Amino acid sequence: MSLRDSLPQVKTKLPGAKAAKVLARRADIVPAAIKSIYPVVIERGEGAMIEDVDGNVFLDWIGGVGVMNVGYSQPEVIEAIQQQSEKFCHSMMNITTQKPYIDYAEAIAKVAPVKGGKKQVMFVNSGAEADENAVKIAKGATGRPNIIVFTGAFHGRTTLTMTMTAKKAYATGMGPFPDGVYRAEFPYLYRAPGGLKGKAAIDYYVSQLTSIFETHSPAKYVAAIVFEPVQGEGGFIPAPIEWVKAVRKICDDNGILLVTDEVQTGFGRSGKLFASQYYKEEGCAPDIMTFAKSVAGGMPLSGVVASKAIMDKVPGGTIGGTYCGNAVSCAAALKVLEIMQRDDYPGKALKISKTCMKRFNDWKKKYKVVGDVRGTGAMMGIEFIKGADKEPNAEIVGKIVQAAWEKGLLLESAGTFGNVIRFLCPLCVTDEQLKVGLDIFEESLKACI
Ligand SMILES: Cc1ncc(COP(=O)(O)O)c(C=O)c1O
Repeated sequence: MSLRDSLPQVKTKLPGAKAAKVLARRADIVPAAIKSIYPVVIERGEGAMIEDVDGNVFLDWIGGVGVMNVGYSQPEVIEAIQQQSEKFCHSMMNITTQKPYIDYAEAIAKVAPVKGGKKQVMFVNSGAEADENAVKIAKGATGRPNIIVFTGAFHGRTTLTMTMTAKKAYATGMGPFPDGVYRAEFPYLYRAPGGLKGKAAIDYYVSQLTSIFETHSPAKYVAAIVFEPVQGEGGFIPAPIEWVKAVRKICDDNGILLVTDEVQTGFGRSGKLFASQYYKEEGCAPDIMTFAKSVAGGMPLSGVVASKAIMDKVPGGTIGGTYCGNAVSCAAALKVLEIMQRDDYPGKALKISKTCMKRFNDWKKKYKVVGDVRGTGAMMGIEFIKGADKEPNAEIVGKIVQAAWEKGLLLESAGTFGNVIRFLCPLCVTDEQLKVGLDIFEESLKACI
């Protein structure tokens, strides 16, 4: 049976002998500050499965943190990479024009749910670079200096995006930080203050956001409001649509640009190609959207899309870079998009979501430690708690992650307090693999209570 169709199988004690040797070399040569969750050394990957150097097979519910939506080693993507790399790998767009960039930019412009008529696209290499450039584009287009971001946000590790990121463990000792980044409360309904619910909770979060115009920066100096449609590192917290509509209105009333960071939510995961599509359908599409991770099937590529009207205002020379829109990455991305549309990956995400949510909600009824189950499409999180006052339970998350790994399922935590387990499994996972994964998860959960 191919690795693609196989089931988890742990054959050695973990880590195995070969993995242990590579890990010792890692400890010697790779800075410890680049943290790693698992002592797993991957040999190859196919679909939703990876095999380590000792022959152990794992079901991967992390997918390189949302990079592998189309699956490891997708044969058509490999072919696209091979074909382009035989022609040329690199050509800097500031010097010569390369067609894969143009082909993919046109394709993204067609599907990007951002406001405005004609759209334009710029490519970079990582999620952080995309977010940083989105802010530069917003500042260039508005001529305003400030931005508003949110509690729980994660936007990357460059100096600007570290500043935009909420959790300061990602920025320890890295100051001074850029000025003009203000933070409002993200609508984390499960933990709304005073147990506020429904409209009262939304009203609270909206007024908390607008209070920034009084306390930190008048609205006329705010270039952009930036948020993730489902907070990833922050704990898989979806932004409620009523809140998004209110934020859209605040932007419209004050000439502020709305930016959605779809680095993790993007590419089929949410049940749409981009989660912002839900907003477009509700009349609250963003002005600017960033994307990365799963767009190129594992090749490094990210980008920013906005209307030509916005892009035209950005001063020449302020955006770009040597590797922006690498030709091989663009060729891979074009193929990924074709596969996602042809094989209905957003539909697969909704099907996976239905199966998982049923099990997760059962667990919420059965196990007191499961406090909340939430998500959009197949971007799902389970929040673990202690007691009636919902104290975050990171200890049990650590134990479950360890127990599941020993049984061949790779899980990852999320959340400001590390008490959420996230689901980012490749969307090509088979029904049987998904069921086995859910069974391992539940067994591990039961063993850790
Ligand atoms: C929402 C979001 N934005 C930005 C980033 C940063 O992406 P990168 O690590 O590619 O710089 C991430 C990474 O996890 C993310 O989840």
